[in-house]
Amino acid sequence: MIKELEEVKKDFLNEINSVATLKDIEQLKIKYLGRKGIISDFMKTIPTVPAEQRATYGLQINTLKNEFTSLIGDVTRRLSRGAIPRTEKELFDITLPGKQPPLGKKHPITQTIDDVKEAFARLGFDVAYGPEVELEYYNFDALNIPSDHPSRTDFDTFYIKNDILLRSQTSTVQIRIMEKQKPPIRIIAPGRVYRPDTVDARHSFMFHQVEGLLVDEGVSFTDLKEVLNQFIKTYFGKDVQMRFRPSFFPFTEPSAEVDISCSICSGKGCSVCSYSGWVEILGAGMVDPHVFKAVHYDAEKYTGFAFGMGIERITMLKYGIDDIRLFYENDIRFLSQF
Ligand code: DAH
Repeated sequence: MIKELEEVKKDFLNEINSVATLKDIEQLKIKYLGRKGIISDFMKTIPTVPAEQRATYGLQINTLKNEFTSLIGDVTRRLSRGAIPRTEKELFDITLPGKQPPLGKKHPITQTIDDVKEAFARLGFDVAYGPEVELEYYNFDALNIPSDHPSRTDFDTFYIKNDILLRSQTSTVQIRIMEKQKPPIRIIAPGRVYRPDTVDARHSFMFHQVEGLLVDEGVSFTDLKEVLNQFIKTYFGKDVQMRFRPSFFPFTEPSAEVDISCSICSGKGCSVCSYSGWVEILGAGMVDPHVFKAVHYDAEKYTGFAFGMGIERITMLKYGIDDIRLFYENDIRFLSQF
């Protein structure tokens, strides 16, 4: 092929390689194959070449014309099928970082529940759940809470109708599990609870608790202490101290409230711990024989311990959160920090 034709072929291939749209290919077709196009210009030069070269020359131009026509046809078909134009493919820099779709994550309350589950799983506790719409019997009677107890009034409990209410504590799950299973029992029960409290920085009409229950032969207060000690060290860290204060709950005897050294000020004293260096995180005790009676367990044979802890509370203490409402406002700026 003569040099000029070779040049034209090179140009054509370069140009067709960077074609991106049907409009581009149309222009390319006009430029090379149009009536006043490059191929046509070459045709016009045929009479000027010496007679003995004319046939070959003409043939070469014709071959090139056919090649161009066929390539233009291919690319046109590809583009009209919506195939990715080559240019875009070539402009795509695979070394650039991709667009990151915003990734969701677990809510801090869910994360704490997961942490609690994991810490207790290591101590052999299963996870149990109970209903949030509950019978008065499970929320109060079976837990040895007398009928004149102030927590039963509708100032402290949401009633739905008659003896149906929104559970105000996860202790209900103790009864439901013991009704169904015989000892040994070793469960934690996380979930939502409801109380008609006015919402402020420390109160919410709905929050989360986790209940714990262990029943077997020969369970003692020491077991309770060590299980809680293990949990507190796992969740808050090795340096956190724990103390028991005598207390009262109708469903445990003896009962205690458990404090940890303030995780915000490391026990030095701050507004979170009211300058005492200690903050309460849970209630606990040895299961009261009246509760065993309600579930037909032999209180002579079995002993057990129970505890109940606020999920929001421990999360706030661990991360230094000063307003419970932040958990429920769905503000991404807050939630994305965990
Ligand atoms: N249910 C109690 C509350 O909501 C917390 C609690 C205290 C649970 C002592 C227990 C317990 O199991 O033994 O305040």
